[in-house]
Amino acid sequence: MVELQNVSVTYSGGVDALNNVSLKINDGDFAFVVGSSGAGKSTMIKLLLKEIDATSGVVTVNGYNLSKLKKRKIPEFRRTLGFVFQDFRLIPSMTVYENIAFVLRVLDAPLKYIRKRVPYVISLVGLHAKTNSYPDELSGGEKQRVAIARALVNDPQLIIADEPTGNIDPELSYEIVELLKGINDQGTTILMVTHEHDLVRHFGGRIINITNGEIVYDEIVTGTNAEVLPEVELAQAMENAARPRPEYAMPDETGEGAAPYVDDVIAAITSTAAEQGGAEE
Ligand SMILES: Nc1ncnc2c1ncn2[C@@H]1O[C@H](COP(=O)(O)OP(=O)(O)OP(=O)(O)O)[C@@H](O)[C@H]1O
Ligand SMILES: [Mg+2]
Repeated sequence: MVELQNVSVTYSGGVDALNNVSLKINDGDFAFVVGSSGAGKSTMIKLLLKEIDATSGVVTVNGYNLSKLKKRKIPEFRRTLGFVFQDFRLIPSMTVYENIAFVLRVLDAPLKYIRKRVPYVISLVGLHAKTNSYPDELSGGEKQRVAIARALVNDPQLIIADEPTGNIDPELSYEIVELLKGINDQGTTILMVTHEHDLVRHFGGRIINITNGEIVYDEIVTGTNAEVLPEVELAQAMENAARPRPEYAMPDETGEGAAPYVDDVIAAITSTAAEQGGAEE
């Protein structure tokens, strides 16, 4: 469960990235988050991962009140989440199997469990034949399926995907969303940020549009793959999503967002022992 109550984020320098946002995503929901560049989508994702804190308001994720969460509890909290990123973030020197097993190893899962669980999630994403391949031997869609398997292996309550189809062929994007939908059918909550309007139109579902740091649209719509499409509403949502905001630079293109993210995922997976040992304050 994700809940934002009157959440605002003001970055140093005075940018109001989120402005009094309230939002609730229930367990089992599948939600698309859309919005133009600079609208505040990644800021929201960073809040949910507790990479940044809200300037005001309350953020609750999977029962953790993030403004009250102690630093040493962050790894425990993050283990209730799975992340999927635009650039896959697989470890090149590890096979598909190892990339996924790695998550469980650092959590000290029993070997017996790892040997059952890893092949299971690999088969869920349809990559059994690639178990012993390295990332550079895989297509973009396959890499992203590995990343999804990795996000799943720890059986998280919530999977957060920030532009998971951003680096793969459009036709494979559908496959990736189908896969996430399938995972959602098994009960995992999914929050997916995307720029791909065709995808959102096709699948429908809950669509949350963030514009200028505010939620301007939050509705459940029927996808074009089903029978009825509320054309007008959806067109409006898409139009809002596409509206450019020339006053701001593309924030993530600067690399500002990218590096900490990678470190953070790896840290969430690997730093458990250090943090539990009190290495951090
Ligand atoms: N670390 C930061 N310091 C100052 N301002 C920031 C910082 N990160 C983001 N911003 C600003 O906050 C606003 C929201 O940025 P955010 O990254 O959340 O946008 P976004 O919706 O993810 O955009 P995109 O679709 O381009 O990824 C933008 O105006 C951006 O310039
Ligand atoms: Mg972003």
